[in-house]
Amino acid sequence: MNYKLLALGGDGIGPEVLESGLSILEAISKKNNLNFEISFDLIGGTCWDKYGTFCRNSTIEKAIESDAILVGAVGGPKWDAMKIKGDPEEQDGLMCLRKKLGAFFGIRPAKNYKSLQNIIPFNKEYVQNSEIIILREMCGGVMFSKPRGLKLLENDERYGFDTAGYNEFEIREFAKCGFELAKMYNKNIISIDKSNVMESYRLWRDVVQEVSNDYNNINLEHLYADNCAYQMIMNPKNFDIILACNFLGDIFSDLAATISGSLGMLPSASLCGSPLNKTKGIYEPVHGTAPELVGTGMANPIGMILSISMMLKFSFGLEEISKKIELAIDKTLQKGFHTKDLKGSCSTNEITDHIIKELKLCL
Ligand code: IPM
Ligand code: MG
Repeated sequence: MNYKLLALGGDGIGPEVLESGLSILEAISKKNNLNFEISFDLIGGTCWDKYGTFCRNSTIEKAIESDAILVGAVGGPKWDAMKIKGDPEEQDGLMCLRKKLGAFFGIRPAKNYKSLQNIIPFNKEYVQNSEIIILREMCGGVMFSKPRGLKLLENDERYGFDTAGYNEFEIREFAKCGFELAKMYNKNIISIDKSNVMESYRLWRDVVQEVSNDYNNINLEHLYADNCAYQMIMNPKNFDIILACNFLGDIFSDLAATISGSLGMLPSASLCGSPLNKTKGIYEPVHGTAPELVGTGMANPIGMILSISMMLKFSFGLEEISKKIELAIDKTLQKGFHTKDLKGSCSTNEITDHIIKELKLCL
């Protein structure tokens, strides 16, 4: 089989973890007779420095022609401090890619690893074996809705504003995908909102409830987001799938990473359609560009490698190989090979080599 990939390393440690991810793909392709046709391009700050934009139209065109897109990480202090006018698509390369591809269905799984038990801030009995999947709507809500802006009031005070808006269609399409995923995994859903105080979340709650009528076997519960944050940290084991808007999903995915030991462990998929349909997707680790780690060779590539595992599963239907990657990571961690963020001393290359070694044993 031949798969077309677009690889966008981006900024900071992005290119380093991407390289590590691609070496995993190389190991897989050799053993399984799969051909990954990879083209490279710039996104984020490095793209701005060269072309004066965070994401070029030609990159979007290439992404449209690809089967999947891999992203390292985007942004950094140098560019974050710049005040660029316009919509979020013009201010951030990733936001542009997500919006223009319609990659609305975000899947961000966090799981607890037995071998990392001693570095997480939880008592073992509360967190052991827990796995929380944050489903995040990626293309709407307060991060994209209009009007938004900055203006000067009559008293010369500055006023910044955004709009927290969703239309029914966006919520329904996203929620349907969420229920399909819950069906695949046989898990329950907790939908989060602030419908006690906000109109857009009242609609969110109503539409999610309506969609649930078509999925009788999936248990749905609604929680206010603030209360959910509290309960999730008090008792992570009680949570399976959390269904969230763009903004809350962003926050809750970082929060859920606490059960994994490090943000560096978290992968993500942003799919352009239902998880049932081997659809195109953007795959990226949830961690940022970690400027302090750049060039040290100490970044944790596991978030990237797990993102590749998600790509094999969701975009290509290669579920078995995807599971083998997860297994190889588990075994590597169990043998005590940990990167700096996991209180170990393995470099990016060393841990990648260990994972490849384990992978080759099970492929
Ligand atoms: C994420 C990041 C991005 C987001 C930033 C870099 C635009 O925080 O992927 O979680 O807000 O979605
Ligand atoms: Mg985030």
